[in-house]
Amino acid sequence: MRNTRIVEMLEVTEQAALAAGRWMGKGEKDAADQAAVAAMRQALGELDIDGEVVIGEGERDEAPMLYIGEKVGKGGEAIDIAVDPLEGTNLTAYGQPNSLAVLAFGPRGTLLNAPDTYMLKLAGGPQVADVLDIDASPAENIEAVAETMGRPKEDIVVCILERERHEELIQQVRDTGARIRLISDGDVHGAVATAIEGTGIHLYMGIGGAPEGVLAAAAMRCLGGFFMGRFRFRSDEERERAEHMAACDIDGVLTMDSLVSGNESAFIATGVTDGEMLRGVKYFGAGARTHSVAMDCSTGTIRFIETVYHTTGEPFWVRRD
Ligand code: FBP
Repeated sequence: MRNTRIVEMLEVTEQAALAAGRWMGKGEKDAADQAAVAAMRQALGELDIDGEVVIGEGERDEAPMLYIGEKVGKGGEAIDIAVDPLEGTNLTAYGQPNSLAVLAFGPRGTLLNAPDTYMLKLAGGPQVADVLDIDASPAENIEAVAETMGRPKEDIVVCILERERHEELIQQVRDTGARIRLISDGDVHGAVATAIEGTGIHLYMGIGGAPEGVLAAAAMRCLGGFFMGRFRFRSDEERERAEHMAACDIDGVLTMDSLVSGNESAFIATGVTDGEMLRGVKYFGAGARTHSVAMDCSTGTIRFIETVYHTTGEPFWVRRD
């Protein structure tokens, strides 16, 4: 069945992006994040939903807004909501590409309640979805992708977060002959880009935030791509939190089904800064233009949407009369 909430949810990420975009290049990542969070929360509050934040800004005691478990909306259909109002806070603060306002939603109980820990992730597009395995070595996965795509390994591009913890992984990938797109932040985009033709990224590998993993899995489910994860706890406290929160085997493989179940979910992202998949917010005298992608898992429809907002609060035809 077609997901009828896409447009109203689209406005939620658009509002977050419009608020965050004003902070581009100002070097203040927390202010940019707060602006996005406040705008997203306000927009969610206006919807006729009984929404519960399952992925949010953190635990109740550490996040005043959009904390895990927070109820949003004026009442109505019971839905789970996973949000990252500003994915890539540093990217926005330093005017770098691919920061996004992101949201996924689905019927209550369909999105994994993942704690704010790390996750080992592997993602690829639909063409290679059947040949990837998170427990295989990077070399084996690259070999499988090259063979399936009918290309030499030297053509394959792997996206990896540039972190010290990835030194060995980077070396292993280099040793195969594959090329690497190192990113400073923003692994939701890194993973999703593997399933979007023209981005030039074929695989995403490495350890990033677990909440971002659930969001990426929601997108990959709609795109028919591949996503697999494994929690990587940094402390006993994180492990205990996961035991308490996540309804899954916390030491096992996190498949797309365990991260996002059923086929009624949707994923929406609006560009904050310009990127390969989406353009960033453009402000002009009388308003602003946003660029978003809305993925409806129930139909497999992927929409790229440009929206023009008028700050006068009136459509053009009112002023022309
Ligand atoms: P923020 O938007 O919260 O700054 O996170 C950006 C990000 O790069 C994510 O895309 C990624 O999953 C995570 O941070 C990686 O965490 P770390 O910076 O600790 O390696």
